[in-house]
Amino acid sequence: MTSVYQKLLKCKESVDNLMKKAGIGDFRPLVAVVLGSGLGDFADGISICGEIDYADIDGFPVSTVPGHDGRLILGHVGGVAVVCMKGRVHLYEGYDITDVVLPIRLMGLMGAEYLILTNASGGIGADLKAGDLMLITDHIACFVANPLTGANIDELGTRFPDMSTVYRPELNDIIRDMAAKLTIRLPEGIYVQAGGPSFESPAEIRMFKQAGASAVGMSTAIEAIAANHMGMKICGISCVCNLAAGLSPTPLTHDEVQEAANEAAPRFKQLLMEVIKEIGKQG
Ligand code: HPA
Repeated sequence: MTSVYQKLLKCKESVDNLMKKAGIGDFRPLVAVVLGSGLGDFADGISICGEIDYADIDGFPVSTVPGHDGRLILGHVGGVAVVCMKGRVHLYEGYDITDVVLPIRLMGLMGAEYLILTNASGGIGADLKAGDLMLITDHIACFVANPLTGANIDELGTRFPDMSTVYRPELNDIIRDMAAKLTIRLPEGIYVQAGGPSFESPAEIRMFKQAGASAVGMSTAIEAIAANHMGMKICGISCVCNLAAGLSPTPLTHDEVQEAANEAAPRFKQLLMEVIKEIGKQG
């Protein structure tokens, strides 16, 4: 057994104990959700049955970014059991990449079959504007490390996982249908993960554009790789918070990102709630 897997099992045991203590030892999520920068409001729509501070989980990485608090929220959306990460850790915080994806793996081990990834991003595609929600149809992750580097965790998945359809077409269809019903504009595109924490240079953005990317951010793709490795069914929605470097006349700020995420939050919450209910019907 690898040491990464041992650490994961320890976290799982810790969560199991905390859930038992809270009287929800038999809670089993169907859907896992990761909330990106400023999108934490969504958690208000959950009928909560338990909350666990990351700091209380043995060995769990704790985020240091303003706007990201660190809690696992357990509860129901329209009767569908969800586990929600309110706050994630990023590579640029200095964590080992296996720690960055540990919470995703943990939610998989808790029983979640579906994973909805969300994030804040900079828009690269000409059709995108600040405040848009973008359906992630694929990603580019080769500019950052791979979370599966090191001994393979055979207990979770295969050494060389296929990556042809990480963002599941059937889930994308649900998201498209729900966005149309709610009259929410939903452009689509490829998300590229950059390392951060500095925003990208205009030259990097031009390169990403040539590579086919529509939006850039500092998370998500490595989480999708880890979740895909363990067979989770994944989809992703990005909140385009600013135009990427060189595409806007003003310098980028973290405050601007949070403001745009706040503005998009009600639309995002509506969409996510309906998507989860629909997954519940089909899952
Ligand atoms: N670049 C990277 N990450 C981001 C951006 C950006 O422009 N906006 C929000 N997150």
